[in-house]
Amino acid sequence: MLDNQFPFPDSMLDILNLDSLETLARERLDPMLYDYIAGGSADEWTLGENRAAWSRLQLVPRMLRGVATRSLETTVLGTPVSFPVLVPPMAFHGLCHVDAEAATAKGTVAEGTIFCASTVSNCSLETIAEASGDGPRWFQLYVYRDRAITRDLVERAAAAGYSALCLTVDTPYGGHRERDKRNTLRMPAHLELGNFPRSHTDAHHHGGGSGSSLGAYIHAMWDPGLTWNDVEWLQSISSMPVVVKGVLAPDDAVLALDHGATAVIVSNHGGRQLDSAPAPITMLKAVVDAVDGRGEVYLDGGVRRGTDVMKALALGARAVLVGRPVLWGLTLDGADGVRAVLAHLRGELDLAMALSGCATVADVTRDLILEGRP
Ligand SMILES: Cc1cc2nc3c(=O)[nH]c(=O)nc-3n(C[C@H](O)[C@H](O)[C@H](O)COP(=O)(O)O)c2cc1C
Repeated sequence: MLDNQFPFPDSMLDILNLDSLETLARERLDPMLYDYIAGGSADEWTLGENRAAWSRLQLVPRMLRGVATRSLETTVLGTPVSFPVLVPPMAFHGLCHVDAEAATAKGTVAEGTIFCASTVSNCSLETIAEASGDGPRWFQLYVYRDRAITRDLVERAAAAGYSALCLTVDTPYGGHRERDKRNTLRMPAHLELGNFPRSHTDAHHHGGGSGSSLGAYIHAMWDPGLTWNDVEWLQSISSMPVVVKGVLAPDDAVLALDHGATAVIVSNHGGRQLDSAPAPITMLKAVVDAVDGRGEVYLDGGVRRGTDVMKALALGARAVLVGRPVLWGLTLDGADGVRAVLAHLRGELDLAMALSGCATVADVTRDLILEGRP
């Protein structure tokens, strides 16, 4: 239990709020690479909506419940975490910092929570596992057309001590990312795809003609023919629990569980896939109700405030994941920057809970939510 955690934990980065970090990180990054991280697809309506949707929910605080001693701890898939915020899979952390995903893993573990490493990381999954030390870790899977590649990744993840497989289902093809097309996105020559032989890195650097090389790589390599049966296939080749990432429709969440998934992440890939898709927070309540306790439900997309985390918990999410701000922290101060971002968000959540009369995450219940714009 924490006793009066305020003011927010000291950090090397003086963080006023998570948005302020983006401005600072932008100054450090090549504009093409900043655009790759910050951008969304097409008109970026969904990207904006991921933020706007939070403001249509209000929190009605409760008083005089005794909040001098508080705990933000919870579990995800049975693993204890210091607070209900995880770090989602994001490609190419080497764009932000020389230590890449190893730094993200180190910073995340130091804050007592879980980093889910992407298939397309610059560090190998073994290097990320080593950087995580004794800390828990998840591995995100993109399924390759060549199933031998996928099988090999799954076996390596199990051998390296990953405790869950996060299957991303919203990316049969890359979204229409206009910023990347306009910029003719190319990854810096020194960055490798850590999980693959050099030939993959070459394809990834040089493909795409006048368009994005990443888009060309996805098109050539990832399997757009995936179906729900592949969720079962995945379980047949591994004993790790499968978390299905990227559902929005309540029926899809139910299908995921029907096909053996242990949990789902309500997500639109940070607004990078189908533009016009709703914000995850808009769908959360319906998904939680449809799932009806059969599996844990997580959410990502536009989580920037402690009050956002509270709203998601109140509507039934077990935990949320915070994406881009972690990359801004990584850009600015490596593993310490990642720590600072997570510590800041923990501080905001702690204060929001205290001001709402919640001493534990179990106290964050649906009756705190008032729906509709003021
Ligand atoms: C630069 C970047 C790369 C990403 N790469 C992946 C990836 O490799 N696998 C994946 O499942 N999701 C990927 N995502 C989506 C994130 O996992 C997550 O859904 C999203 O970033 C959450 O939204 P937020 O950034 O608004 O917090 C990526 C997102 C960003 C910003």
